[in-house]
Amino acid sequence: MTQTTNTSTSNIVWHTHQIDKAVRGSNKGQVPRVLWLTGLSGSGKSTIANLLEQKLVAQDKHTYLLDGDNVRHGLCGDLGFSNKDRVENIRRISEVAKLFVDSGTIVITAFISPFTADRDYCREILEDGEFIEIFVDTPIEVCEARDPKGLYKKARSGDIPDFTGIDSEYQAPQSPEITLQYQDESAIDTAERLYQLLVAQGVV
Ligand code: ADX
Repeated sequence: MTQTTNTSTSNIVWHTHQIDKAVRGSNKGQVPRVLWLTGLSGSGKSTIANLLEQKLVAQDKHTYLLDGDNVRHGLCGDLGFSNKDRVENIRRISEVAKLFVDSGTIVITAFISPFTADRDYCREILEDGEFIEIFVDTPIEVCEARDPKGLYKKARSGDIPDFTGIDSEYQAPQSPEITLQYQDESAIDTAERLYQLLVAQGVV
């Protein structure tokens, strides 16, 4: 999906402050990142993100978790699930994630984020190595069998239009930094595996 070009900033000059991202990060004893979880509804993104954040905090990391369902209650409460609204949802989240990175924070995001171009937008507005794409690769059959919120059932009966994986597209990442299977293991074990991969890759 293409991003809208904002021309309203043409007369606004960026102000550089003395305390920058590097200072804020080192003050927190960490390198800020965006750990971007993408996958279908019911794939386990929020569950794993929640457990991963607990692990990071236990290691004295400074974190913030941006979760799709929660953000849609506030910042993105005016948005629905048309392609246009999903693009805007992810654009806002990307900009918020960038601000958190600038604050020196390790950000975890849990959004379906179905479109490659929108995930790439977040990668592009960050510096090299800051954006870690984590594909929670749970097949739709498994997500639908779990159906934790009863949404697949409603979507199948026509009560929820534009449902991802049913009548709205999900573009799976082609070369994510990490692909995570979350089917046969417990959420705790899966989150532990993800944490160890992040450590091994020098991300956290
Ligand atoms: S995204 O596509 O814009 O990235 P987001 O992650 O914010 O989606 O929100 C997805 C959550 O909204 C799902 O986990 C589900 O609980 C709920 N939801 C409600 N309607 C839909 C829909 N039509 N498609 C997908 N998820 C929906």
